[in-house]
Amino acid sequence: MKSKIYLPFLFSIFLASKVDAQGLDQAIEEKVQTLLDQMTLEEKVGQMTQIDVGVVTVMDGQDVPQPFDMERLSDAIINHHIGSILNAPSTPNNQAQPIEKWRSMTQTIRTMAQQTRLKIPVIYGIDAIHGATYTQNSTLFPQAINMAATFNRDLSFKEGEIASREVKASGIDWNFSPVMDIGRQPLWPRLWETYGEDVYLASSLGRAFIEGHQGDNMSAADKAPTCLKHYVGYSFPLNGKDRTPAWIGERMLREYFLPSFEEGIKAGAPTIMVNSAEVDGIPGHANYQYLTTILRGELGFTGFTVSDWEDIIRLYSRDKIAASPREAVKMAVLAGVDMSMVPFNFSFYDLLLELVHSGDVPVSRIDEAVTRILRVKYQTGLFERNEPEILVSGNFATKEAEAINRQAAQESIVLVRNEKQFLPLSKKTSILVTGPTANLLSVMNGGWTLTWQGDNESLYPKDKLTLLKAIEQKTSGKVTYVGGKNYQDEINIEQAVNEARQHDVVVLALGEKTYTETIGNIDTLNLPFVQIQLAKALFATGKPVVLVTFGGRPRIITEIAKQANAVVLGFLPGMEGGVAMADILFGDVNPSGKLPISYPRNTNDIVHYDHKPMETFDPNQYNPLYPFGYGLSYSQFETSGLRLDKTQINIGDNIEVSVEVKNSGKITGKEAVLVYLNDVVASVTRPTKQLKAFAKVDLKSNETQTLHFDLSSEAMSFIGVDMKRRIEAGEFKVMVGSESVNFNVNEK
Ligand code: GLC
Repeated sequence: MKSKIYLPFLFSIFLASKVDAQGLDQAIEEKVQTLLDQMTLEEKVGQMTQIDVGVVTVMDGQDVPQPFDMERLSDAIINHHIGSILNAPSTPNNQAQPIEKWRSMTQTIRTMAQQTRLKIPVIYGIDAIHGATYTQNSTLFPQAINMAATFNRDLSFKEGEIASREVKASGIDWNFSPVMDIGRQPLWPRLWETYGEDVYLASSLGRAFIEGHQGDNMSAADKAPTCLKHYVGYSFPLNGKDRTPAWIGERMLREYFLPSFEEGIKAGAPTIMVNSAEVDGIPGHANYQYLTTILRGELGFTGFTVSDWEDIIRLYSRDKIAASPREAVKMAVLAGVDMSMVPFNFSFYDLLLELVHSGDVPVSRIDEAVTRILRVKYQTGLFERNEPEILVSGNFATKEAEAINRQAAQESIVLVRNEKQFLPLSKKTSILVTGPTANLLSVMNGGWTLTWQGDNESLYPKDKLTLLKAIEQKTSGKVTYVGGKNYQDEINIEQAVNEARQHDVVVLALGEKTYTETIGNIDTLNLPFVQIQLAKALFATGKPVVLVTFGGRPRIITEIAKQANAVVLGFLPGMEGGVAMADILFGDVNPSGKLPISYPRNTNDIVHYDHKPMETFDPNQYNPLYPFGYGLSYSQFETSGLRLDKTQINIGDNIEVSVEVKNSGKITGKEAVLVYLNDVVASVTRPTKQLKAFAKVDLKSNETQTLHFDLSSEAMSFIGVDMKRRIEAGEFKVMVGSESVNFNVNEK
C-alpha cells in the first residue's frame, strides 16, 4: 500500500522537478498548455489586459472600507476576463490603504476570479519600489540610489525579503521593482529610482534584491515575483527630461543598458516592464529588435513583458507612429508586448479581438503571450492561493524590519566633507536647524511613498522623525528651528541669521522636494537661489555650518560646500532617514556610504567615473565635485598589498585579486572596498576604469582583513567592433585604492 502511494508521489516529484533546456519546469508547462487549450480567444486576450483598480472602484475609493463597484468588477473579471489589476484606489493624490483593507480588497478579487469559467487568478501589481508603498505603516526603505550607496548586497537582499513579505501580507501578488535602468543622466527625475551610474553595482544590488524578494521558490507565502524596469534605455534622455528621446547606439546599449537586465533575468525575474520613451526614434513599445530579437533571442527571457502606463495607445496619441489606436495595439503586440497596462478601459481588449478576427494578429502570437502570463501565474503559486497566505502579525512593519531599514539608511548616507574632523557633534551642542528639508519626511522618501508623488506630508506616519525631530531627540543641547511647515515655505533669513548667532552650530538642510516622473522635470541642477542665499547668510555669521542635503538628484552645491565645515549627502534615505542622519551627525553611527554617481561640480559637468581616456586628456575635463565611489568615514581605511594570483593568463581564464584593508582609525567602522579594472589597449576605446568587484567590511580600530576577489573572464570582456562581446589579449590593470597591478591576457 505504502509503495503504491509512494511511487506516484515520487513520480510527481520527478515530473515537478523536470526542467528543460530553457530552465522551464515541465510540470508547469503541461498545466499551462492544458489550460491554454481550453481557453476562448476572449479569455486569452483578457489575460493580456491589465487595468487600474480605479476602473472597478468608486470615486474616492480610498475613503471607504469596501471600494469596489461590484458590477464593474464583475464586468472586468467575468465579462472581460482581465489578467491583472494595478495600483491603489485613488483620488488624484493616491493614498495608502490600511493593510486590512488591502487584504479584503485582494480577497474580493480572488473570490470573483473563482467565479470565472476557468478560475484563472488575477495578478495584482504594485510599485513597492522601496517597500509596500501604498500600505499604511509599511517598512519604507531608502530609495535605490541610497541602497546603491551602501555598496551592501546583504542589505539589498534583506530589503527584497521585507518588501516581498509586506506586499504579500497586504494580499498583493507582484512588485513592479527593481528599476534596472542605469542612472547616467542626473537631470532625469527618476535617477533616484536607479542604482546609479555603474553597470556592475546596479546589476549586483538588483540581483540581491530579486533574490531576497523571490527566494528559491517564488510561490512561497512570503515571496513574490519582481519586474525589471524599464526595458531598455529609458533612463538616458538626451535633455534630461522624463519620457523624452534617448539616443543610444548599439554599443552603448550593449555595454551600459542591457547588462543589468540580463543579470535580472539570470536572477530569475519573471516579468519585465517596457520603456515608456524611445531610443533612436523607436518607442520602447514598438521595438521588435529590443523586445523580441534581443530579449527573447539573445537573453532567453521566458517570462512576460508588461507595457508601461498607457504606452501602447501613446504610439498613436503621442508618438505618431501608429495611424490609429488599432494600429498601435497591433504594433505593440507584434513587437513583443505581452500585457497592456491599458489602464483606464477595455480598448486594448476590444481592439486586439478585432485584430485577431481580421487576421492582423495571429492567434499564435496571442497564445505565445498568454503562455508566458499563465507560466508566471503558475510559477508564483497564484492558482493555489485563495487568501492572503501570511498573517500580518510577525510579517509586517516588525521591529526587526525597522532595524534593518535604519541600518540601510545609515549605510546609505554619504559624508563627503569633514573639515578638521568637525563631525561628529557633541550631544551638548546647541544647534540651529534650518533649511527647507529639515523638518519633512517627504523629502527623505521621494515618490511612490504613500502617494505617487510622495508629497502629501499629512499622510506620513506620525511616529517617524524628520531630521529636526531626530536631532531634538538625540541632543541635550538647545535646538532651535527656523523654517516652514512645507518645502516651499519662505524661510526668514534674518531670523535664521540671528538665531545662528545664539547657537554653537548650524545644521542647514537643503535639497529637493519629492517628485517622480515628468512632474519632477527640471531645467538645471542648480539649487534654488533662495537656498544658496540662506547658506551664504549663515556662513557670514562665522558660525560653523553642517550642510545636509536630501533629494533624488545631485543638485549643484559647489559654491556652498567649500564653505561648510561638513557636508553630508542624504539623498532619499527613507522613513528612518531622519534618525539615521542624526545617528551620523552625533557619531552614534560611523558613516560608510559611497557615491553611486559622479557628483557634478557644475550643472553641465556630466562626466562619469568610467569615462574614456580622451575625457581626461585635458585634466579639467573630468572634474566632479565628488567622484563615484567617494565617501568619508570617522575612521581612516587604507588598502595595501594589492596582488594577483597570476600575472599571465589566457583568454577565458579568471584571476584572483587579493588586498588588505585596515581600519587605522580610532573607532570601528565599515568600508566598501572597490576593485576597478582597465583594459589598457583594445580595439574599442575602453573606460579608464570600471568597477568589477566590491565587498564591504566591518573593522575594529587597527583591525586588518585580507579580501579576495575573483575576476572572471566576463569582467575582462567588452563589446567589440562587431557588436559582439569579446576579450582581447593584452595588458590589463587592476586598481584598488591608490594601488594598481597589471596582468597580461594571452591568446590561447
Ligand atoms: C508609471 C511608471 C512605472 C510604474 C507604472 C505603474 O508610469 O513609469 O515605473 O511601474 O506607471 O504604476
